[in-house]
Amino acid sequence: MEGVTDLPFRRFVRELSKDKQPFFVSEFLSTGSSVFLTPVNKRAVRFDKEEEPFCMQLFGHSAERLAVAALQAQELGAAFVELNAGCPAPKIANKGSGSGLLRDLPNLQKILESMKSVLKVPLFLKSRLGWDENSIVINEVLEIAEGCGVEQLTLHGRTKVQGYKGIADWNAIGEIAAKAKIPIIGNGDIDSMEKALNAIKFYGVKGVAIGRAVLCNPWIFAGTKKITISDACNAILRYEKLLRADSLREGQIIGRLKQISARLCLEFSPDFRLKVLRSDSTQELLDNWGQML
Ligand SMILES: Cc1cc2nc3c(=O)[nH]c(=O)nc-3n(C[C@H](O)[C@H](O)[C@H](O)COP(=O)(O)O)c2cc1C
Repeated sequence: MEGVTDLPFRRFVRELSKDKQPFFVSEFLSTGSSVFLTPVNKRAVRFDKEEEPFCMQLFGHSAERLAVAALQAQELGAAFVELNAGCPAPKIANKGSGSGLLRDLPNLQKILESMKSVLKVPLFLKSRLGWDENSIVINEVLEIAEGCGVEQLTLHGRTKVQGYKGIADWNAIGEIAAKAKIPIIGNGDIDSMEKALNAIKFYGVKGVAIGRAVLCNPWIFAGTKKITISDACNAILRYEKLLRADSLREGQIIGRLKQISARLCLEFSPDFRLKVLRSDSTQELLDNWGQML
């Protein structure tokens, strides 16, 4: 997840996952610039040895640029390269990237072919069901993906227009899983290990991808359900250290701490949440958490 699952966040989640290590995908990497390794991408392609095999995700709409970027991702050690055909953000989708590709299937095919032609490592695809409810194209997307040699499809059971609203359509995911020759990873609204295992059992997916729930419960992969205030507090203190060790700027550190605090605090009192989110500095935020210990 862009702006969330960077290296320090993944280190943080890895520590909390103990022996149940998740398979991570990078934040999506833009191919919008003539050079792939922009300062932003340079940071986002970093991964730890422990994360291997690591998947790098790319977005864009130019087959040429995506092929160049795919090759570079592979050279940088990606064990898998994934194309994003799901992002609904207007500044991305309206330019024909992310879920914008679902409105231009010939270009999606061209891109997958060009990426495939340069890759030795497996090519993955991340998609939504379609642009809107009147243009569900996931069957065609699956056909194109399989035809192009894509080796895994992660399917978020919503349309672009839905954004993150409503509930993910797991029946639609199940139908795709039933007809696909390649592994389907189901995605949408999984917020516990039970839900993950049930989805695998009932919808025939090979696995599930978990997004937002990891912000509410970064212990999710270890199977932890009930979070205590002291666990949350210690986790925040640890996350701050990991962010600092990765040389983030002060403004970024407090931003990241508020991002996770906003979700973690939902478990506790609304007043405490407000107090934490109104902290003016990292120290004040940490002190506010510390007072709950
Ligand atoms: C802040 C944010 C950033 C995201 N960035 C990405 C991204 O870079 N690549 C991607 O494939 N999906 C991205 N997503 C979508 C999630 O991966 C996932 O498909 C979606 O949130 C549904 O799954 P969930 O219900 O488990 O969150 C992002 C979602 C959020 C909320």
